[in-house]
Amino acid sequence: MTIRPVKTAVFPVGGQGTRFLPATKAVPKELLPVVDRPLLQYAVDEALAAGIERMVFVTARGKNALEDYFDVAGELVASLKAKGKTAELAVLETTQLSPGQIAYVRQQEPAGLGHAVWCARHIVGDDAFAVLLPDELLWNPANPALAAMHDVYRQRGGNVISVLEVPDEHTNRYGIVTPGAIDGLVTEVKGLVEKPKAGTAPSRLAAIGRYILQPEVMTILSAGKRGAGNEIQLTDAMAELIGVQPFHALTFTGTRFDCGDKAGHITANIALALERDDVGPAVREWLKAQVI
Ligand code: G1P
Repeated sequence: MTIRPVKTAVFPVGGQGTRFLPATKAVPKELLPVVDRPLLQYAVDEALAAGIERMVFVTARGKNALEDYFDVAGELVASLKAKGKTAELAVLETTQLSPGQIAYVRQQEPAGLGHAVWCARHIVGDDAFAVLLPDELLWNPANPALAAMHDVYRQRGGNVISVLEVPDEHTNRYGIVTPGAIDGLVTEVKGLVEKPKAGTAPSRLAAIGRYILQPEVMTILSAGKRGAGNEIQLTDAMAELIGVQPFHALTFTGTRFDCGDKAGHITANIALALERDDVGPAVREWLKAQVI
């Protein structure tokens, strides 16, 4: 079995962010901050920690601010230098990627996650690749989600997705796994179904927005088959790889914040703020005073 290296990551960032209106009228939801870093920066940091070298952002109309964010802010850098603001300059440096490390492709219609991933097919080429959904903030600085998946992939090859158990009544929000053999945190994937209704799901193991996939999934997506919600679903295309290629799920160890949801986004801000030396103490004080 050849294990093709994973050097490219695809970030679907074309969504309209309607749940965060009116903020998302002018700011892409992926740039909304968690403490002081945009949500998307966490996913990019996670990709870098997993050894990813090329980032592909699948964007859409009205989301040009994403390109500006990852560009060098020349005037800002010059003015910070002139003022001797070295701490701020150091922060900016943590976000700087090399020229050519990011490519942008536009999803011309909101036809589903599978369609968004497929829009990146020419850039991905014949290599295995990762997909990261930035709404899902998977927080484990000691063992970031994609790096842990990459380790499993190096041993087992094929396709690896990140999963967590969700309550029965939430299976209709996720891609759900039919589990096979279990080996510690790694579960063989025997089947996948997108958003099954409560009570009909094959398990409570839900895909949480991190994927390492073989390029053959792109060929499957090319058929443009519509699934749940009349959208082209990544889950359906992945399901066709099961039995053809190895397919495993790795249970995520860490804290997951669903930042596509307002409560999840607020919780992420509080949790990550509490971990920080600069803002943590003040936030903790305030929180303590709220407990009745
Ligand atoms: C997407 C995927 C779903 C996955 C989920 C994770 O759904 O289609 O399989 O479980 O992300 O967040 P969406 O949240 O875009 O409806």
